Amino acid sequence: MSPTLHLPGLVDVHTHLRVPGGEHKEDFASGTAAALAGGFTQILAMPNTSPPLATRDVLQATRAIASQTTRCDVGLYAGASPQHVVELPALAAQAVALKIYLNDTFGPLRVEDLPTLHACFRLWPRGKMIAMHAEGQSVAVGIGLAAAYRRPVHFCHISRRDEIELIAAAKQAGLTVTCEVTPHHLFLTDADAARLGPLGDMRPRLAAQDDQDALWAHVDTTVDCIATDHAPHTLEEKASPNPPPGVAGLETALPLMLTAVQQGRLSLDRLVELMALNPRRIFGLPTQPATFVEVDPHARATVANDRLHTRCGWTPFAGLAVQGLVRRVTLRGQVVFDADRPEALARPGAGQLI
Ligand code: NCD
Ligand code: ZN
Repeated sequence: MSPTLHLPGLVDVHTHLRVPGGEHKEDFASGTAAALAGGFTQILAMPNTSPPLATRDVLQATRAIASQTTRCDVGLYAGASPQHVVELPALAAQAVALKIYLNDTFGPLRVEDLPTLHACFRLWPRGKMIAMHAEGQSVAVGIGLAAAYRRPVHFCHISRRDEIELIAAAKQAGLTVTCEVTPHHLFLTDADAARLGPLGDMRPRLAAQDDQDALWAHVDTTVDCIATDHAPHTLEEKASPNPPPGVAGLETALPLMLTAVQQGRLSLDRLVELMALNPRRIFGLPTQPATFVEVDPHARATVANDRLHTRCGWTPFAGLAVQGLVRRVTLRGQVVFDADRPEALARPGAGQLI
């Protein structure tokens, strides 16, 4: 028997739960089961749903569904949309943060004009985070806005050497920018994309080995958070002529990162900062008393699709050997996941809406 390790409940600031409109891929009950199985007790759900979380009515209706069906604590992003900027102050009352999509990805939410960007930065409350999907030179646009408006901006799934180096320079210059990287960009490259086909396609796309090396080189310094970008799509959709980008990630993030700790790529303390302390602090999320994750850091397993809780039922990491497994998760003093007792899983509605 190897010793059990206690970690704080993990926080994922980038999860796609697909409500409303994509419940066949995931919903609050299935997605938060996956979250708990992965050691996450608090997650932020993305707004690129159908319709998107860009109007007061949709956000309100989705909050109502979330509060009835979530198994862990969940907050919602509002989505920035040129058609609905006037709603931003009303949206802010119901959302944890604002998401602005500057680059192409799954769904129609996009901001491609400067007037809308100005409106977002003027109308969104200063105390709440603005998170950006920015790739390539869009990262510079986001940094420029952070500087011009003197306010924090968080960059989602940074994946390229030139992007992480630009964020390092912005931090060096004193700007309040933060960033996340995903496990898939830390563990897979464009060589895997060629092997996996649509199952290895997401936005930002998998990058070159040199980009991945840069992310690891900045993992102790510039990188603030590990975020999953859990973006489930069905195998059927992935096999279609026009497969949507995105891969599941909630249940593999911690085993992968614990494996990296075993390999000496980062310390366990740094893992806890990246996956719990920093995300909570950056997004101003509530603490969760009597909440922790028990992991067996030495347990070995091969990632398998048939053990997943996510409704999509597959992961690009299937077949990969990992070392470090979640044994049990306790939320506010209650066991909400136990690897040996499926019946211990928290019921839908047991989680709190942030
Ligand atoms: C995400 C999705 O499927 O919602 N897809 C992805 O490839 N990452 C969208 C996103 O996060 O940009
Ligand atoms: Zn995403």
